[in-house]
Amino acid sequence: MAIKGIGSDIVEVSRIKRLRETYESRFLTKVFTKGEIAYCESKEHPEIHFAGRFAAKEAIAKAVYQSGHNEVIPFSHIEILNDAEGRPMVSFLIHIKGNCLVTISHEHSMAIAFAVLES
Ligand SMILES: CC(C)(COP(=O)(O)OP(=O)(O)OC[C@H]1O[C@@H](n2cnc3c(N)ncnc32)[C@H](O)[C@@H]1OP(=O)(O)O)[C@@H](O)C(=O)NCCC(=O)NCCS
Repeated sequence: MAIKGIGSDIVEVSRIKRLRETYESRFLTKVFTKGEIAYCESKEHPEIHFAGRFAAKEAIAKAVYQSGHNEVIPFSHIEILNDAEGRPMVSFLIHIKGNCLVTISHEHSMAIAFAVLES
């Protein structure tokens, strides 16, 4: 096993809230999968969880591009769902070489994520 790429990102929750209010479901369906939308919408403050996922997708994209992948990855083709313990688990809906690990953290106003792509 070797690390092929790493990435991080930080997102303001208010930015995601604005995008959601302005573009409504167009923004959500462009960026998030049905499962992600259902997860975030089930929370008391969905925008915090959308922001965490948005940061995670940016972080994952950076890790994947760093590994040498040179095609654009639409964010809706990266899915982050939580396991039974709440851990965020990454799956790709397109072929990406390697396995991706991500960690997400959020407060009321900011969300951050860090990702590692391993072979
Ligand atoms: C796991 C734990 C440390 C997360 O702390 P927290 O301050 O609530 O987390 P943050 O607010 O910074 O980040 C929240 C994100 O952490 C991630 N997360 C949640 N549970 C997690 C876990 N068990 N492991 C890794 N990441 C986890 C999720 O991605 C979550 O965001 P999301 O719900 O939008 O996907 C905390 O929930 C905890 O102590 N839980 C009880 C103990 C536990 O479950 N331990 C794991 C088994 S030993």
